[in-house]
Amino acid sequence: EKEKTLAMIKPDGLLGNYTERIKDVTVNYGFSILREITTQLDQDSASRFYAEHSSKRFFPSLIKYMTSGPVLVMVLEKENAIADWRTLIGPTDANKAKITNPNSIRAMCGQDLEKNCVHGSDSRLSAQREISFFFEDVSSGERITTH
Ligand code: CMP
Repeated sequence: EKEKTLAMIKPDGLLGNYTERIKDVTVNYGFSILREITTQLDQDSASRFYAEHSSKRFFPSLIKYMTSGPVLVMVLEKENAIADWRTLIGPTDANKAKITNPNSIRAMCGQDLEKNCVHGSDSRLSAQREISFFFEDVSSGERITTH
């Protein structure tokens, strides 16, 4: 059964001109890019998107990073899309990715634990919430939240 996930190329990925390489790897891995939008997150939207991390020490820095330039947000579809996209991007820490997952997207374009160049939903619930956060008209199951 096909599944959808939300993928995002973060500001460092766009600034470093990795967009086309990331899309090539993504499509070659079997994903269909159903939707995409380039947008600039502001303080409020970034804080809402990352609400689950609001109490973490790294939150202010994360919001500064995520609002530092445009992001490219995509809805990806394939079987097992959520887990497979996280496999393809590699571990959160791009320095670790370079050692343990050298073929991963984060190994290709990430810098460190924070500036890791891409995002992927971590569960079906997150995928539904995150897809509805950016796209009003993509059916991804029950609507969890709106913006
Ligand atoms: P992501 O998993 O997409 O969503 C949460 C983000 O917070 C994560 O990517 C990193 O960009 C950032 N992050 C996670 N953990 C840390 C950390 N310990 N220090 C700094 N940034 C982090």
